Amino acid sequence: MRRPIIAGNWKMNKTPSETMQLIEELKPLVRNAAAEVVVCPTSICLFAAKAAIANSNIVLGAQNVYFEDKGAYTGEISCDSLLELGVTYVIIGHSERRQYFAETDETVNKKVLKVLQKGMKPIICVGEKLEEKELGVTSEVVRSQTKKALANVLPTDIEKIVIAYEPIWAIGTGLTATSQDANNTIREIRAAVEEMFPGRSQDIRIQYGGSMKPENASQLMGMSDIDGGLIGGASLKAGDFARVVNY
Ligand code: PGA
Repeated sequence: MRRPIIAGNWKMNKTPSETMQLIEELKPLVRNAAAEVVVCPTSICLFAAKAAIANSNIVLGAQNVYFEDKGAYTGEISCDSLLELGVTYVIIGHSERRQYFAETDETVNKKVLKVLQKGMKPIICVGEKLEEKELGVTSEVVRSQTKKALANVLPTDIEKIVIAYEPIWAIGTGLTATSQDANNTIREIRAAVEEMFPGRSQDIRIQYGGSMKPENASQLMGMSDIDGGLIGGASLKAGDFARVVNY
């Protein structure tokens, strides 16, 4: 049985003090959640977030990491630093990083391997662009992204991995994939995992992301293969995020 995981991707929002405030508001609202609850503030807010989540069921995630251990990589952030700040999950390959910061399937794979090696858990983002959806190649796109991201992963690490299926045309647009379409594509992703890791694909949790909000969370979460959500806009208000978490 896969435990649902609802993660808030705060993107470049909230200062350290606002981070503490949002987590304080959230804590009582999600205390009894059946799902695993993750918040992913900006890297510079993780220190504040670590203090704020103490004695709660909220788990910390980061939005990015670099794949080298340390060294002359100005501006980058290491796994060891994230570990010291109590980070459990790291979002890797979000479409905004692929689009604006030259993230590729190859760097995604390097980051996935490093995060696993360091004992953290990746949330790997895959998803098709609008043109790809219109060309009818969604399945090929997400299968390819999935397989490239998981290259050289140890079969024993599969259960630590979360994949977020985020159709790019649905991110921040208010458009959501129908729950049936999202479920079908997530099954394709699981099939790609199965081809690489026979017998292990039922162990991997696959989220939906893209304008997920209180109004559509329970329908999406009711689908057979959707194991959680990666929530952007609706994670920035404690009440909205809590309603998604408690779908
Ligand atoms: P959204 O973002 O919920 O605002 O669409 C989701 C994401 O980008 O992870």
